[in-house]
Amino acid sequence: AADVQSKALTLNFQPVPKSKADAVLVPRGYTATPIYATGDPLAATVPEYLNDGTDTDFEHRAGDQHDGMEYFGLNATGTARDPNGSKRGLLVMNHEALVDQFLHANGVTAATATAGRPVAEVDKEIAAHGVSVAEVQRRGQSFAYDRGSRYNRRVTPLTPMQIHGPARGDGLMVTRYSPDGTTCRGTINNCGTGYTPWGTFLTGEENWAGYFTRSGGDDAARGGPMAKSVVSLRRSGRNAGSASRHRWETAGTDDKYARWNISQVGAGPAEDYRNELNTYGYIVEIDPYDKNVAIRKRTALGRFAHESAAFGLRAPGQPLAVYMGDDSQGEYMYKFVSKMPWNPADAEPANRITTGDKYLDEGKLYVAKFAGDGTGEWIELSMANPAVAGYAAYAFANQADVVVNARLAADAVGATRMDRPEWCAVHPVTGEVYYTLTNNANRKVSPTGSQQPVDPANPRSYNDAATEAPASARNVNGHIIRLREDGGRGAATRFAWDIYLFGAEADADPARVNLSGLNDDQDFSSPDGLWFSPKTGLCFIQTDDGAYTDETNCMMLIGRPGRVGDGQPVTLNYTRADGTTAEVTTHVGAKPTAATLARFLVGPVDCEITGVTETPDGKAIFVNVQHPGESISKADVNDPAKYTSQWPSNAGYGLGKRPRSATLVITRDDGALIGGNGPALR
Ligand code: FEO
Ligand code: CA
Ligand code: CA
Ligand code: CA
Repeated sequence: AADVQSKALTLNFQPVPKSKADAVLVPRGYTATPIYATGDPLAATVPEYLNDGTDTDFEHRAGDQHDGMEYFGLNATGTARDPNGSKRGLLVMNHEALVDQFLHANGVTAATATAGRPVAEVDKEIAAHGVSVAEVQRRGQSFAYDRGSRYNRRVTPLTPMQIHGPARGDGLMVTRYSPDGTTCRGTINNCGTGYTPWGTFLTGEENWAGYFTRSGGDDAARGGPMAKSVVSLRRSGRNAGSASRHRWETAGTDDKYARWNISQVGAGPAEDYRNELNTYGYIVEIDPYDKNVAIRKRTALGRFAHESAAFGLRAPGQPLAVYMGDDSQGEYMYKFVSKMPWNPADAEPANRITTGDKYLDEGKLYVAKFAGDGTGEWIELSMANPAVAGYAAYAFANQADVVVNARLAADAVGATRMDRPEWCAVHPVTGEVYYTLTNNANRKVSPTGSQQPVDPANPRSYNDAATEAPASARNVNGHIIRLREDGGRGAATRFAWDIYLFGAEADADPARVNLSGLNDDQDFSSPDGLWFSPKTGLCFIQTDDGAYTDETNCMMLIGRPGRVGDGQPVTLNYTRADGTTAEVTTHVGAKPTAATLARFLVGPVDCEITGVTETPDGKAIFVNVQHPGESISKADVNDPAKYTSQWPSNAGYGLGKRPRSATLVITRDDGALIGGNGPALR
């Protein structure tokens, strides 16, 4: 551990205290400034955002609920990519979801028995999802976004895209929109991100299933509960009779509304929307520098509730590894290994998107299985694996079927059900792979029913002894697990693991809950966003919490992790639901100290902190504040006194008092590196 940590910077800031203030707190000597919020114009001709629910034209404004984000450097004149460009660049970010009450003048108009949702509201809601590209430029110590940049762009749930990889052209992808199954429309519920070694943006589609409705009779229409499409839909969380999140399908008969109803009603898949759900759930690749390049859905990386896509360290002549999590209770951790070996010349390719085709359309998809001895294995998901090809619960037809139904394939091979794998990130020096496991309300000690039993990689069955609902036996604070690939190779099929940090309240039981010994300067709950600075090697941990928000708003910490195996095995005693006791042994990393983990930022009320990236010189970071003040009822949207947050208007940003998601730029007042004051790693 010592060699790794000596290469990383020494934390150079005073920890920020926990806070419930409606403000962004950063350490002394740092400045955080909102620069780009929901609704901000992305063209010179688009009017200022009034922020009173009357604004339209989200096709040319920042979307809602800023999430994962990456910075792409530009040269000084803005004419071309410069991977080291730190004075101007493109911020590319996800707009995951909506605080829909605040999008409309008087809140959301619900569909009734006689009338559907209003077209004007639905059009705005659809367009406020997706991805935005906004150019940012250094202004003195800080940054501003350039409203008129020619790079500015929106990608929405209606943007045409191409299907790439094994599922391209398969019958599963045939839709009214694409009778040959090669194209699709749009991306939705974009959460985590990735930065490819060739300079493109990856976005993960997370909770896509909830936007679609199925009729109560749809199982029968599809041939009953054993029909393959019914098994697939149920595994995606779309049971017959499920309502859609925003009821967009009620707005009209035009395809852009009707497609959100995926019930089987026509004579074939090109006549209805039965397969529409199969076109969502992917890692999607966008060239942020070129609006004319078709966006690709990379089906080889599997279909599930994607978060980030993190590349392993690259070695010439070795395949690329891409790590990914599936954020749902009891879901899995995956990796993709490219067929093509890495060619360093591809770091600055003549054609970025065909470079993506080269590495991301062919390869092997794996899922993780953990053993109690601190090792684990990656199991291949392909028809070559007899456990997949011979799975009794679902008869896979081909590799297209395997990637589209990756969760079912992972079930078939007996992978380890995790406590909601959110983002993953790769340590830029050690190459070890970190995954946040945000929490799991379904992690119970009873082995019966749908609950996942306790295991060594997901060992906590409850939060705090008396005060935090032990009877419900949940891992409410989450943890961060990390892996070291055998031989450090991305193509390895075995790994060692331990748990870097357990989220906990500082005063929680150290023997059962606060296993990492967090103090008041470090304690956190529900880790979600996770990123390593390639410049400083520091680890950024962001929270999306509900368990500790009675005492603090969501936050971001900075850490200097050691290595897998730098701590000790720990045996936990726990009480099962039936009152009997049992124990489980896990592997806990070295406990953090004041020098290796500290709270760097606390956000405003009712927000999640998510998305972090930096200028290549490491002197500015960008952080997203998502959905401040999201707890609002329709009746109160025009009564600022009822808002739980008025950020960022209370920080002097923008018009109106309605709270908005926004991007912060954070700099050190002395112009030094963010987070640490030692020498840069590279
Ligand atoms: Fe969109 Fe799993 O956070
Ligand atoms: Ca999140
Ligand atoms: Ca989350
Ligand atoms: Ca609490």
